[in-house]
Formats: sequence, structure tokens, C-alpha cells
Amino acid sequence: PVTVYENQHQASKRVAERIATLIKNKQSLGENAVLGLATGATPVRVYEELVRLHKEEGLSFSNVVTFNLDEYYPMNPTSKQSYVTFMYENLFDHINIEKENIHIPDGTLSKEKIADYCIAYENKIGELGGLDLQVLGIGRTGHIGFNEPGSAPNSGTRLVTLDDLTRRDASRDFGGKENVPTKAITMGIGTIFKAREIILMAWNTKKATIIKKAVEGEISSDVPATYLQLPENTEFVLDKDAASELT
Ligand code: F6R
Repeated sequence: PVTVYENQHQASKRVAERIATLIKNKQSLGENAVLGLATGATPVRVYEELVRLHKEEGLSFSNVVTFNLDEYYPMNPTSKQSYVTFMYENLFDHINIEKENIHIPDGTLSKEKIADYCIAYENKIGELGGLDLQVLGIGRTGHIGFNEPGSAPNSGTRLVTLDDLTRRDASRDFGGKENVPTKAITMGIGTIFKAREIILMAWNTKKATIIKKAVEGEISSDVPATYLQLPENTEFVLDKDAASELT
């Protein structure tokens, strides 16, 4: 299903409410809520609202386990552009999540260790009960996580090469495309598909063309987000601008 909101504030609030409801439902069962999280501009207001719910309405994250989708490779976690820094600044520093419940792919591993690490990351998600909810943004290449065009629908967590357009879109954060890492570790499309619920969010007219392809285009690895047309448990949450090219 596709839901279109007036603006990204309203949409983000709605997504944060869904996350909060999941966390509280799990709390009442004495279980953990396992969240798959994204970075980038898109989820910033969702995290802002979750922080507000924690500070003003007492929402507790003590039973929350998180797995981030991706991290650049190589990447030092203390670097300003790392997804570790992003997640702590935008969410984890402001809520009562247990540090050991946070999982973000490690951008510091030596090349030979990556394959085993990725299998372990994948297994860990399963051991902790599987993802209850995965939130996603979408890149202008149609990537979800860093699953660029050509990614297989059954792909797992792995090292990938970033598309040129993805690196260009990240160049502002890195002060030039040449400084953007050429690779990343990302959950696969198959990893994402195992989540019990998936929410893909997109805002602004600059996402309108790729959203049209993702929602209405032929399902193909050329636009990995088209795979999300298949599962029933996926919702595209859009603002009016991102939805403006939909028929
Ligand atoms: C980030 C991620 C990416 C972004 C996408 C959109 O963890 O997995 O797929 O969601 O590149 O980025 P923004 O939100 O910055 O437009």
C-alpha cells in the first residue's frame, strides 16, 4: 500500500507512532522489539519524534534492539560521516537504549574478515527474533539499504560497490565525491524481506521520479526498490511531492 501525507512532518509523526506502538505492545508481552533502521536525511524527523516521545511521554527503549541497514566501507565509527555517528547524534544519545542492543555494520574490518562478519550479522538478527519492522529510505538509483541496481532479491548482508550517483549524492557530506568511500556493507534485499513489516519513506520532488519507478514500474533488479511491490507487509509512506508523479 501507498500512503500519501501532506508533508514529511505528518508522515514522520505517523511512522514514529507506529514504532512506539510496536515497542509498547512488545513491552506488554515482555518481549524485545527488533527494529531495522536507516540513516540519511529521510528518517531524521522520525528519530526526532521518537526522542520527543521518550523525553516528554516516557516511551522507554529498554526492550529495543536495533540493526542498522548499512555503513560505508572503509569507515571509522568516530568519523563525522559514519553511520555510527549519525545514529548516536540523531537517536541513540537521546534515548534509554542499551548499548549492547545496538548493531551497526563495522566499517573497520580487514577485507578478509568481512564475509564471516556479514554472515554473523545476518545470524544475529535471526537469533534475536528477526526484524519486527524495517524502515527504509530510497536512493535515486532505486537502492534500498545500499542494494544498488543489479542486486538480487535473495541477497544477504555483504560488501557492495556504491553506484556513481549514490556517491555524487553523498558528496556534500564528504566535501567532494572523491572522498566518498567506493564501498559499503549493507543488509541484503533478502535480509530486508524477512522483516515482519517494512516501511519505505520518501520526501521531496527529487525522489518523485524514482518513486514512480519503484511503485509503478516493472519489477526488476534495475530498480531494487521495485521488489517491495511484492510483499503485502510493505507500506510506501510518501509526502505529496515524492508522490507527485504517481498516476
Ligand atoms: C541509509 C540507506 C540509504 C538511504 C537512501 C536515501 O542507511 O540505507 O538507502 O536511505 O540513500 O538517503 P536520503 O534519506 O539521505 O535521501
